[in-house]
Amino acid sequence: MCGIVGITSTKNVSSSILNSLRKLEYRGYDSAGIATLENGIIKEVKCEGRVDALETNLAKQNLDGNVGIGHVRWATHGVPSTVNAHPHSSDRVSVVHNGIIENSTLLKKLLIKKGYIFKSQTDTEVIVHLISDYLKKNDLKNAIIKMLKRLHGSFALGIIFQDQPDLLIGARRGSPLAVGYGPNENYLGSDSYALKSMTNKVTYLDDSEFCIIKNDNVEFFDEAGKKINKKILELSKDDKEYEKGDYKHFMAKEIDEQPMTIKNCVNEYIDKISNSINIYNFPWKKNDLKSILLIGCGTAYHSCLMAKYWFEQMTNLDVNVDVASEFRYRKNKFKKDCLYIFVSQSGETADTYAALDLCNKNKVKTCSIVNVVESSIARDSKFVLPIHCGPEVGVASTKAFLGQMLVLYILCLKLAKDRKEIDKKILSSKIKSLLDLSKNVKKTLLTEDQIQLVCKSFADAKGSMFLGRGFSYPIALEGALKLKELVYVHAEGYPAGEMKHGPLALIENGMPVVVLAPRDEYFKKTISNMQEVIARGAKVLLITNKSKDEVVHENIWQSIKVENTIDDLLPFLITVPLQKLAYHSALNKGYDIDKPRNLAKSVTVE
Ligand code: F6R
Repeated sequence: MCGIVGITSTKNVSSSILNSLRKLEYRGYDSAGIATLENGIIKEVKCEGRVDALETNLAKQNLDGNVGIGHVRWATHGVPSTVNAHPHSSDRVSVVHNGIIENSTLLKKLLIKKGYIFKSQTDTEVIVHLISDYLKKNDLKNAIIKMLKRLHGSFALGIIFQDQPDLLIGARRGSPLAVGYGPNENYLGSDSYALKSMTNKVTYLDDSEFCIIKNDNVEFFDEAGKKINKKILELSKDDKEYEKGDYKHFMAKEIDEQPMTIKNCVNEYIDKISNSINIYNFPWKKNDLKSILLIGCGTAYHSCLMAKYWFEQMTNLDVNVDVASEFRYRKNKFKKDCLYIFVSQSGETADTYAALDLCNKNKVKTCSIVNVVESSIARDSKFVLPIHCGPEVGVASTKAFLGQMLVLYILCLKLAKDRKEIDKKILSSKIKSLLDLSKNVKKTLLTEDQIQLVCKSFADAKGSMFLGRGFSYPIALEGALKLKELVYVHAEGYPAGEMKHGPLALIENGMPVVVLAPRDEYFKKTISNMQEVIARGAKVLLITNKSKDEVVHENIWQSIKVENTIDDLLPFLITVPLQKLAYHSALNKGYDIDKPRNLAKSVTVE
């Protein structure tokens, strides 16, 4: 959420900052800005809207200077506008900031009393004036230490100074931040993606650390000012994965990549020769665990919910699922024999990270399932299972969802096997089916043409419903979430059997309803629920799997048939047409598919 970039160099930095901001735009896109130090004067160019608008402004007003900071914003304090866009500057310092300063109202009052004038409605401006104030009586390092002590909340900062022509400060508490190393120049970025076009050598700041970056040297400190040594890591060079190729949108590319990402993940975790699961270094023994708690947000939460069904079916473990933002503030009873599993594509989601941190502080067993292996959640979990999907750039999560479900399913098989709770033959047949999953997803992508026929009805409706039972219920929630976030229409995912307890009242003539009824153990019950909504005028899009027996109901509006596989894996297949439904409905409306309004890819504020 929000993106930071900073560069100190022997060359002009504004165009490199602009390029990095383009990469960071997925983190926030309601305003943008750059500040550089030009002949001893801090200069800013800012705008409301996207990086394209910033580029237009930069063309009108040159911004020179060898040190600078840039920012893309996702508004928290204050509306999206040029005046609220970062950087925020005084004559002495300029600051970019991700996160929230929780005590900004109090600090602002104190600073106003001291005569400081505030121009914006942001919480960030208090940082500018605090540093300026401390610089009156302190050297730069001590001014930073004192300023950090006054701030409450979680944040990442990039700061430049009017009297420091080759110096940049980075500070982290909660929100991620990385330093990159180049020839005669060094960088600061809110993630390694921002830095990748410039370097593949990075250091991640840990919580409560800050750094002083110069052209030829970077020093790291804890918040008390004690110097610390940090490792330099080398990132893989996979820039191609960040390109759209022939696709119009990242989302379309990422949906179509799913057969390949499933293949990669299966190759990573399944030994095809011995037909066994490759998770060797799992740190806990079978008797160590009695229960599992799965925690995530949004789409990642839906994959957790899905996993509950599998774990309950195949193991004797007690399984619960929690939304991270709720878990972190409840009075939890932390259990030593529970495995706390954190699911996150980015590995940086603030609520999920805070839930993990809470578990670590209570010394319980933590495991994470992430896409970004260098992320904070991965680094701070006792055990990590990457989903091997490659970068996901579209704000709406697609391939990461299938990746998360896949790793959770494989983990479930492993625990069931280790605990001797699954029959060997059944395990072996489930693994065999996994080997066909990529092929089946690929064939299911061919349902796209049929989806295009129905998407206008969903895009134009004032609301729609997504119904499913059992394995299909979490997928119904996910399908509705995708439609909401991309098409800006109300869509509700519901357990099909719950409809008559209230929501059936919403059904009216012509309302589009997706019914997920693959031929699993819930099939007949779901079909009965489908008849109840059809009887009340709903236009039903039935998603089921191929079978010799037709689902006969003269009033089904449209049906789509996915490939056949074992019941456990049908959720992967029925997800695909729902992703395409959201994509084509948004395309139909002409909306910005990769950057839906009000959202951002990496939610690093709570
Ligand atoms: C929806 C979506 C979000 C994320 C959620 C968690 O398409 O992308 O709901 O799933 O913000 O993000 P991660 O997985 O990065 O923790």
